[in-house]
Amino acid sequence: MTRPRVLSGVQPTGALHLGNWLGAIRNWVDLQDSHDTYFCVVDLHAITVPHDPGRLAEDTLTTAALYLACGIDPERSTVFVQSQVSAHSELAWLLNCVTPLNWLERMIQFKEKAIKQGDQVSVGLLDYPVLMAADILLYDADLVPVGEDQKQHLELARDIAQQRINARFAPRDAEGEPIALLRVPQPLILKDGARVMSLTDGTSKMSKSDPNEGSRITLLDPPELITKKIKRAKTDPTMGLEFGNPERPEADNLLGLYAVLSGQGREAAARECAEMGWGRFKPLLAEATVEALRPVQERYRSLRQDPASLLTVLRQGRERAAAVADATLSRVRDALGFLPPQP
Ligand code: TYM
Repeated sequence: MTRPRVLSGVQPTGALHLGNWLGAIRNWVDLQDSHDTYFCVVDLHAITVPHDPGRLAEDTLTTAALYLACGIDPERSTVFVQSQVSAHSELAWLLNCVTPLNWLERMIQFKEKAIKQGDQVSVGLLDYPVLMAADILLYDADLVPVGEDQKQHLELARDIAQQRINARFAPRDAEGEPIALLRVPQPLILKDGARVMSLTDGTSKMSKSDPNEGSRITLLDPPELITKKIKRAKTDPTMGLEFGNPERPEADNLLGLYAVLSGQGREAAARECAEMGWGRFKPLLAEATVEALRPVQERYRSLRQDPASLLTVLRQGRERAAAVADATLSRVRDALGFLPPQP
């Protein structure tokens, strides 16, 4: 029996934050026992907005090291760098040529990022979800564990696979039935941590691109900085923490973080904090956050002291990933009718 496949990735743009961890990476860890797991550092996605070439390689290594520090085990998972497996760019081109422009123009994340960038918007930013579809479809992924904000991109990947590739180009078996060329993936979005909000505004998502560093906690923030950011986090005048009150988005977000980071879950956290004032709650949340990140940070530091081992993990990952990705790419090339290269 082959195990179901999983693929996911994070962009190496600055230090990863609690949203990336709780919405994505943390959920990858448990899947390693039951699934065939592929995790890539999506560096081609990182250049869809203006980037610093002096930092890209370093940020790529930091991100890969953080995957391992969070519990991704290279013995059980394939960890690799997207740009080092050329099939990603090639399949993205093939998919580009069958994806309607207006599917991309209605992507919420494109619209949001495009507004922020003004006249700097690149074709790559618009095309970002097609590259993401290529990432997923190359590995015949069954499941894609992501945060809530990626749901629309996953739907697009499904539509491209089903309507634009399988329906049009799938070869037929002896009975004339189409044999699916690409597997149609499912998103895996867990409730806890799927949408971590900014510390300075409970109505907007915690994000790497927010210019205010105080809006997010990164996985590498030292304990004093974590405590300071939580101390300054936005609150409201009401006593007692609660979930689900639309008037109190900050209470919902910070209590949600506490529930996950303390490990006690939503019900117990809501009970513990129902009568608590912000002045008592914030140090508790700070301590839970520092303690949850401590083992990640310790492991990260030791991984970074041994760059050769990290590079070996990425080389082995690239080889394993390329073998799978190249096979899918040539299946699609054949179905689209390209002349096969001579061996
Ligand atoms: P990126 O780097 O923006 O985000 C990486 C992952 O973190 C999740 N995430 C959040 N989850 C909860 N709360 C938040 N505030 C928060 N912010 C980010 C994202 O949902 C994502 O799971 N396009 C992808 C990268 C990508 C990808 C892929 C993912 C490229 N190719 C193929 C899966 C499969 C992205 O948003 O990256």
